[in-house]
Amino acid sequence: MELRILPGNIANMIAAGEVVQRPASVVKELMENALDAGATEVSVALTDAGRTLIRVVDDGCGMSPDDAVLCFERHATSKIATAEDLGNILTFGFRGEALASIAAVAEVTLRTRREEDEVGCEVQFAASEHLSTKEVAAPKGSSFSVRNLFYNIPARRKFLKSDNVEFKHVVEEFTRVALTRADVRFTLTHNGRDIFVLKQAQSLKFRIQDLVGAGVVGEMVDIAADTSTVDVRGFVGRPESARKTLGNQFFFVNGRYFRSPYLHKAVMKAYENLIPEGVTPSYFLYLQVDPHAMDVNIHPTKTEIKFEDDSVIFQILFAAVREALGKFSQAGSIDFDNPEDLTMPVIGKRFEEYTPAQAPTVGFDPGYDPFATPSAPANPPKFPETPSWSGKTWKAEEKEEYGKLFEGAAMPSGQLMILGGKYILSKSRSGLLVTHIRRARERVLYDRFLGVISRNGHSSQRALFPVQVNVGVENRLLFDAKADLLTSLGFDITPFGTDTVVVNAVPDGFSAEPGKVQTLVGDLVLILSDDTVSLPEMMESALAEKFAVLGASSSAPLDSTAEAQRLLDALMASQNPEYTSSGRKILHVIPLEEMEKHF
Ligand SMILES: Nc1ncnc2c1ncn2[C@@H]1O[C@H](COP(=O)(O)OP(=O)(O)OP(=O)(O)O)[C@@H](O)[C@H]1O
Ligand SMILES: [Mg+2]
Repeated sequence: MELRILPGNIANMIAAGEVVQRPASVVKELMENALDAGATEVSVALTDAGRTLIRVVDDGCGMSPDDAVLCFERHATSKIATAEDLGNILTFGFRGEALASIAAVAEVTLRTRREEDEVGCEVQFAASEHLSTKEVAAPKGSSFSVRNLFYNIPARRKFLKSDNVEFKHVVEEFTRVALTRADVRFTLTHNGRDIFVLKQAQSLKFRIQDLVGAGVVGEMVDIAADTSTVDVRGFVGRPESARKTLGNQFFFVNGRYFRSPYLHKAVMKAYENLIPEGVTPSYFLYLQVDPHAMDVNIHPTKTEIKFEDDSVIFQILFAAVREALGKFSQAGSIDFDNPEDLTMPVIGKRFEEYTPAQAPTVGFDPGYDPFATPSAPANPPKFPETPSWSGKTWKAEEKEEYGKLFEGAAMPSGQLMILGGKYILSKSRSGLLVTHIRRARERVLYDRFLGVISRNGHSSQRALFPVQVNVGVENRLLFDAKADLLTSLGFDITPFGTDTVVVNAVPDGFSAEPGKVQTLVGDLVLILSDDTVSLPEMMESALAEKFAVLGASSSAPLDSTAEAQRLLDALMASQNPEYTSSGRKILHVIPLEEMEKHF
């Protein structure tokens, strides 16, 4: 074996793999450099999600012609000079890695001019090779154009995901950087279209609003806590909004975005018993910590940070969030108006793993509910199989029992009764048939949606007065990406501007009330952004189930017995009218003998 020092360009390429994973990494590094250079305006323009071109222009301090070449060398940085500086980092950059890495895996052109220079210069690099330097006229500041990312590493280029996915990552990084500096103007354009045009904002709250939409901001509470270890500022979502909005979760420390599964737990712990399991509230939390008590330098992309006082920060964060939520509403008194909607967090879970969330023990009147007791079969039928009724088990008897129900359901609608808005009462041969309305609707919608999704069909729809809903840019993109699915289910939702959608129609069976449509869109975002279910068959049934639960819980009360009859007819046409897809009981018979006991 012979030891060799790797040629510089190969070493650079390997190092680049750590820093530059995708177009979004380039966007992040260049935006951070622009802020470090003192820019008041940073514009980012992409072509093909950054595959073809990423251009970041700033009006910062610019570079001298010498520095404009030197900055592409590994370990070239103006930001730290001594080892002590490492303990007191106030800039985004400090490694002198980013530009060398980018220039190793793309074709890069830099145009730059300092205030004091009359002419600017243009420098070109490709695959770590300095190709040219020339004088050019240029505004003060710097402009980096990064073309054909990974053109010299075909395997990496192939590894990039679809434009939609890559662009989503870009929006994520752009958002993280833009959230650090409300005083700086940022723009993002994609294929010539403006995605974000962020003006200077008076405060972080306005910046957050410009980025994620007024809807999210309107449902947040302020946080402020100062301690000797850490100062915490920011906003957290109200518990009841956790279901409605796609979680935006952001931590910043000393003005830098960071990821922390550990501190995320502290926030989630503060929401314990306030939100159903499986949903995540939005939060924007800005920490200030003595820079000597943390280490940014442990991860190539600098998004993970080590704190000296990890567990103290955990406690403080937990207490601060808990207190903020407590101010807004006494913990425990939050009114979940419909306890069963708490099963919504089935979102994101495979059916097998799904156990209904425990209904909270506060805030609602349990009353008498014949369906509240665990359903009769010990093992609720597991979707997608229909329950097996073979053998003369108690199950078989039950099937016979339900066989008689159909008769009852076919009764003239005049003989139906709607009770408490929740149940349809009708006659069956052996007694009184009670149908749980919401669950019946869920079953009917489920069957319809599953059919539509698995056969690529179309569902019937119900036109509305168009309802405009601001969803934020990232979520708007989600509606673009899932347009086909939504159309097939019966939604007619069209984009409007960069951060808004207009709902023109919903699937038949969904509520058409404008207020409900707002909520519906929030729930759709949750469903659509969940990609944890991966098996295709599971995906179809899980999706059908989520949409069915959504539709059934949004729909208006039954207002006539004719309508009740139609629901029963539709239910009885199902292969499996007894249970919802998640195994909850829909029908219950109160036998005559049972009634006789009371007299
Ligand atoms: N937009 C810019 N305006 C002015 N100077 C810049 C700009 N971008 C980079 N530079 C200069 O080039 C140097 C190298 O940038 P690079 O991003 O590679 O390293 P860094 O920011 O110092 O550290 P890191 O690798 O952690 O980002 C910077 O230290 C800075 O002096
Ligand atoms: Mg940098």
